[in-house]
Amino acid sequence: MEEKKRIMSGMRPTGRLHLGHYLGVLKNWKQLQEDYDCFFSVADWHALTTGYDKTDVLKENVLNVVMDWLACGIDPDKATVFVQSTIPEVAELNIYLGMVTPQNWVERDPTLKDMAKILKNKEGQNSQIGFGLMGYPVLMSADIVSVNAHYVPVGKDQVAHVELTRDMVRRFNNVYKTNYFVEPQPKLNECSLICGVDGAKMGKSFNNDIKISDTEEVTAKRIMQCITDRSRARKNDPGHPDKCEVAFKYWQIFGNENEIADIEKECIAGARGCADCKRQLAAKVNEYFKDIREKRKYYEAHLDEVQGILEEGSAKARKVTQKVLNDVRNIIGMY
Ligand code: TRP
Ligand code: SF4
Repeated sequence: MEEKKRIMSGMRPTGRLHLGHYLGVLKNWKQLQEDYDCFFSVADWHALTTGYDKTDVLKENVLNVVMDWLACGIDPDKATVFVQSTIPEVAELNIYLGMVTPQNWVERDPTLKDMAKILKNKEGQNSQIGFGLMGYPVLMSADIVSVNAHYVPVGKDQVAHVELTRDMVRRFNNVYKTNYFVEPQPKLNECSLICGVDGAKMGKSFNNDIKISDTEEVTAKRIMQCITDRSRARKNDPGHPDKCEVAFKYWQIFGNENEIADIEKECIAGARGCADCKRQLAAKVNEYFKDIREKRKYYEAHLDEVQGILEEGSAKARKVTQKVLNDVRNIIGMY
């Protein structure tokens, strides 16, 4: 049997995940675990690069992220799920990759520049980028090469990082006259993007998100806040679904073809009030996430099971990373 190609991806533990994470990332991962040997890492070291002084909820955040993954269908029998900081091999690979990475490669990194800007806004002009944050792209590359991954599913904002990993791998292979490391390829997440209830990008920090683990009540409340066709004053006015900035977009994601066509027709004819429309939408969204939320409740009540899954995942990942690290040490010529 031909061996499956390896996939590596990670997510920073920022807390409970929202519908954007589900539609934009997790649905994709769930599909990929069927055809690839997948490694999914909770990147807690990456969380430290900007939050080393805010670790009081770090453990809780890690567990929340993992419970969301599992609830959404990431299957520990198919994919290897683990916490980054339980894989010491990644830290050592980070050292070796750092050696072959010119400083200006990481300085050029666009995501890093953005983070520096955000930090400046938060902490003032004198904020300093930590050495750890500077090394963020190298650490991510260490994750990727620790299992010698072929593909890295990421969003558009992370493609530059995978390109950088390819550069590092090429440099490593050149310097040590080897072809040991695979040049990993980015695999764009091609799922529908969902905006926040205010029409901006959905994000925890914008307070416009709906969490995977929100109750049906909270979900309904959030959806009632969704922006609709702003030009519509009364509920019998003809509406414009194409100008309905959030509610109709959500229908297009969660409704079936017939529903969407009917809603469009009724809206245009002025036969559908926005409040009713959103009440129905809330019921639809709650239906869509019903099983996922039930599964999440199960894991919340069985934390020891979640921890067991992470322990097993870590052991499984380390079988691979230990072999890679051992090979790398030999290739470089370490003692
Ligand atoms: N840097 C990624 C992010 O912030 C998370 C991440 C860490 C990652 N390690 C990775 C993504 C390895 C892909 C592969 O979203
Ligand atoms: Fe949007 Fe529905 Fe209102 Fe039409 S009726 S504008 S689709 S919320």
